[in-house]
Amino acid sequence: MKICKTIAEFRLQRAGAPRPVGFVPTMGALHAGHASLVATCRAECASVASSVFVNPLQFDQAHDLERYPRTWEQDVVLLESLGCDLLFAPTAAELYPDGFATTVAVAGPTLGYEGAHRAGHFDGVATVVAKLFGIVEPDRAYFGKKDAQQLALIRRLVLDLDLDVAIVPVATVRDPDGLALSSRNVRLSAKERERALGIAAGLRRAATAWQDGERDFDRLIDVARTAGLDYEYLAAVDPLTFQPPQPHGPALLVTAVRVGATRLIDNIELDAQP
Ligand code: PAF
Repeated sequence: MKICKTIAEFRLQRAGAPRPVGFVPTMGALHAGHASLVATCRAECASVASSVFVNPLQFDQAHDLERYPRTWEQDVVLLESLGCDLLFAPTAAELYPDGFATTVAVAGPTLGYEGAHRAGHFDGVATVVAKLFGIVEPDRAYFGKKDAQQLALIRRLVLDLDLDVAIVPVATVRDPDGLALSSRNVRLSAKERERALGIAAGLRRAATAWQDGERDFDRLIDVARTAGLDYEYLAAVDPLTFQPPQPHGPALLVTAVRVGATRLIDNIELDAQP
């Protein structure tokens, strides 16, 4: 695996990479969820590129950026073991040099939910992903379904800017007890982790009710709510627009929950009605 710290170095390597080139952008602190993205990319592409960059633009709180886990050595070992060919790991000064003055802002699916709770977060994501796509020039890019609103934003960005990259959503990876994997899970105490299991358990209850024929979203949301959890939001949305679901269209139940000092998000798909 070739590790490139600068844009120029990466571009040199990228020029000789067999296509299709697949890309998995990350902020490091890699876990089995990222591994699944890279493995899917490896299975589908001739070259696998990844990036590790803790993007300061997408943190609305300075202390959250400082506290974000950094596990560079393990990340490199994992990416290497999964067959990643090219790793782009720039500094913030490399991506945002003095004078950097551009913000990419996607409206539509970013309004509400994570967008409402994390000021500037999605502008930061859109800006860095637009830059990374410009540098990596991937044929395919892989994103986890766990960050459902981010996925909707990326799809909108690619459509609106006519970017020639196929966006490939990859299923959420969960611990055997159902907790969706997240780099933030390491911050949970044993008791908090136990409580956090109520998030996925609630979503599963609602999905079962949906399969059993319940079509009233307010009732599904009630079913999904686990007593004692501090929900920031729990809602049914259209997975592409993050507006209320279309009649007979696909729906997602999305949620953000505060467990102690940690904020966790999760979602579950409700298939389109026949
Ligand atoms: O999902 C993430 O890890 C980040 O938001 C991304 C897409 C790598 C952009 O920094």
